[in-house]
Amino acid sequence: MTRKDPLVDLLIHDLTGPLSIVLTSVNNLLTKEDKCGPYTEYQKNTLKRAQRNAEKAKALLLEIIEVYRSEEGLFRSEQFMIADVVKEALLDALEIVTPDISEELAHAGEDSFKDILARNGIIIDISGKYGQAAFIHDPKKIRQILRNLISNALKYRKATMKLSLSGDPDLVISVEDDGQGIPQEKQTYIFKRFFGASNKKGGAPDGLGFGLSCVKHIVEKMSGDISLRSGEGAGSCFTVRIPPLR
Ligand SMILES: Nc1ncnc2c1ncn2[C@@H]1O[C@H](COP(=O)(O)OP(=O)(O)OP(=O)(O)O)[C@@H](O)[C@H]1O
Ligand SMILES: [Mg+2]
Repeated sequence: MTRKDPLVDLLIHDLTGPLSIVLTSVNNLLTKEDKCGPYTEYQKNTLKRAQRNAEKAKALLLEIIEVYRSEEGLFRSEQFMIADVVKEALLDALEIVTPDISEELAHAGEDSFKDILARNGIIIDISGKYGQAAFIHDPKKIRQILRNLISNALKYRKATMKLSLSGDPDLVISVEDDGQGIPQEKQTYIFKRFFGASNKKGGAPDGLGFGLSCVKHIVEKMSGDISLRSGEGAGSCFTVRIPPLR
């Protein structure tokens, strides 16, 4: 994908409008059950599925726009607490991969948030400088990187996912899972666009095979790097290093 492709520009632009209308319509139906309902369980679940998938399509469009922006070197420079962006990205990923946990968290208070995560095998550890101090960069890009790595770990883990953030002055993010891991020969390809989807043997692909290529692209535009430690049956650990924007 390059910025020079006018058809991709047009596609993104023309899909945004109708998608917003679908989302608003479904959201309206879901929030106005008192006027339009009562709905049967089947109707409610169908509306929720439509809502989730429209959200997914919207997220994908936003993702492509962020890749374009980084291709042009367009980074917003903001000071923000990394813990806030971690929380947003985690909620984004849970919403897509495990809506049940997402639903549980939506009704939880600040106190029970960490307990619910721990009960579901999700550990978050923020240590060092950025536990207290703000990080300076484009929070949308950081959220996108985190969302992609977290959603993969949640998709492919057996039981646990550990997210660690540390580093000074560069931010170091590592996302580790206890899944089946990625064999050595596959590790060279997974950062290539659409690899995941086209490499599946039979059955519907879980995703588009787009996420990791976006992450690598954005991280490199940020003058950072991404590495992977994994092996067959050994889980996976993705580590990203990002220098702060000056
Ligand atoms: N944590 C992981 N454990 C095992 N395999 C992984 C992990 N992360 C990525 N992969 C493999 O790498 C492929 C590419 O990942 P990528 O995030 O690019 O695509 P995807 O998750 O399949 O789809 P998308 O992110 O576009 O929805 C995946 O399809 C999967 O085969
Ligand atoms: Mg993915």
